[in-house]
Amino acid sequence: MIDHEQMIIVLDFGAQYSQLIARRVRECHVYSQILPFNTPVEQIRALRPDGIIFSGGPASVRAEGSPRPEQGILELGIPVLGICYGLQVLSVMLGGSVERPERREYGHAALEKIGESALFREIPTGTHLWMSHGDSVQVMPDGFSCIASTGNCPITAIEDTARGMYGVQFHPEVVHTEHGSVLISNFVHTICGCTPSWSMGSFVDTAVADIQQKVGDRTVLCGLSGGVDSSVVAALLHKAIGDQLVCVFVNNGLLRKGEADLVIKVFRDHFHIRLQYADAEQRFLSALEGVSEPEAKRKIIGREFIEVFEQEARAIGHVDFLAQGTLYPDVIESISANGGPSATIKSHHNVGGLPEDLRFELIEPLRELFKDEVRILGRELGLPEDIVNRHPFPGPGLGIRCIGEITKERLDTLRDVDAIFIEEIRNADLYGDIWQALACLLPVKSVGVQGDERTYEEVCSLRAVTSEDAMTADWFRFPPEVLQQASNRICNEVAHVNRVLYDITSKPPGTVEWE
Ligand code: XMP
Repeated sequence: MIDHEQMIIVLDFGAQYSQLIARRVRECHVYSQILPFNTPVEQIRALRPDGIIFSGGPASVRAEGSPRPEQGILELGIPVLGICYGLQVLSVMLGGSVERPERREYGHAALEKIGESALFREIPTGTHLWMSHGDSVQVMPDGFSCIASTGNCPITAIEDTARGMYGVQFHPEVVHTEHGSVLISNFVHTICGCTPSWSMGSFVDTAVADIQQKVGDRTVLCGLSGGVDSSVVAALLHKAIGDQLVCVFVNNGLLRKGEADLVIKVFRDHFHIRLQYADAEQRFLSALEGVSEPEAKRKIIGREFIEVFEQEARAIGHVDFLAQGTLYPDVIESISANGGPSATIKSHHNVGGLPEDLRFELIEPLRELFKDEVRILGRELGLPEDIVNRHPFPGPGLGIRCIGEITKERLDTLRDVDAIFIEEIRNADLYGDIWQALACLLPVKSVGVQGDERTYEEVCSLRAVTSEDAMTADWFRFPPEVLQQASNRICNEVAHVNRVLYDITSKPPGTVEWE
């Protein structure tokens, strides 16, 4: 473990937002570590943190057995900031009281500052706050004063400057709270006295040390897809353990134009990573022959992938770990997916279905990061912009964009269409404004006229969406000239396509992919 000169500990009381708090601290360029709420005080003391943040949580402090940290944590002389449940727990531990008022409070509220607290420096009265609570503090502990209220919540924020203790009822970590980052920065920099010195470079040092310690002299297998997440994982692991990392890249014949070459060039030629390249195009095409039904396609592609991956893994010999590019939003999504009755809209596939004798221990070094942080990390590791900035691409690839029957010829046509569309988006300098751009080949033909000749050829549709997280999406408003240029080029340069459509469906009701 690297010894961080400065750090903030986030004590997790079960909030969905704990990682978001840690992220906001990282944005202040200070290292942060999340620990369970019941971490022993000695362990916390040994880490020598500069500040501790108590997260929110779903429990009520009034309920028996609700999570409490060890009392000694409040006697360490280290500044504490309690957020929502964190404020309430701090209050009752120090002798205050928490009640459930008649009216609960969810959503926006306006800040009314009382006095001048360091916590609210540069945050004006009237600022929009995001509230989500049933309980609230009724009586402050001795020594505290109230530094803010809202219409519904008289004790919205409290402080005891002598002991360096602060608490807020709202959530400064979420984007719906205006100036929330300023509040976190006030706590981290002004109150805890941390200097902004941490960066993604420091994250690399920590992650490398952690991976080395975990892996020792054993071997790690990493499935490389060419997407941002697996690419960053591969580059990070390679930095940590060099040739103890073996990457497997499966060419399923459903990739974009030039994709396989790019992956080989970057990972084998540039990084000198041990890369096992499986050319399985023929195998996938045979398995998909005559199949048009979207779920059937996905299942076949998923099954074939696992079989090929398995073969490659066996060929490597003994492997101890499997590396995966799981990000924090994936962690949250799988937790909520397991806990709730959410319907399977589409069966996404990953390598979770490997057989018993190929079950490895998992390494997931990106588990705490958000997508944009992964991109910063990728750059830090020297990955080219082309990989770091790319749009998401689904595991089943062009298989679910070649609507109807999949043939090599139709895939080649789609690859050409896709490449022109992406190139025109890049030429117009719009690639970064778009969450994802894609082309589909439709299972209809249309009549056209080219050079005085009647044509009867394929139809393609172009789609580009903006989104935060792919859960909802809106269609991208292109300047018409960009679509015009893409359409002209596609009809002129791609044989077998004589019509181009632009998809103006948002999600919902549409999904991003067509199948
Ligand atoms: P949908 O089409 O469900 O897509 O709106 C949301 C996001 O997920 C991607 N996607 C997939 N990614 N395996 C993946 O790794 C899949 O099977 C898969 N299906 C959809 C899609 O490209 C979009 O970014």
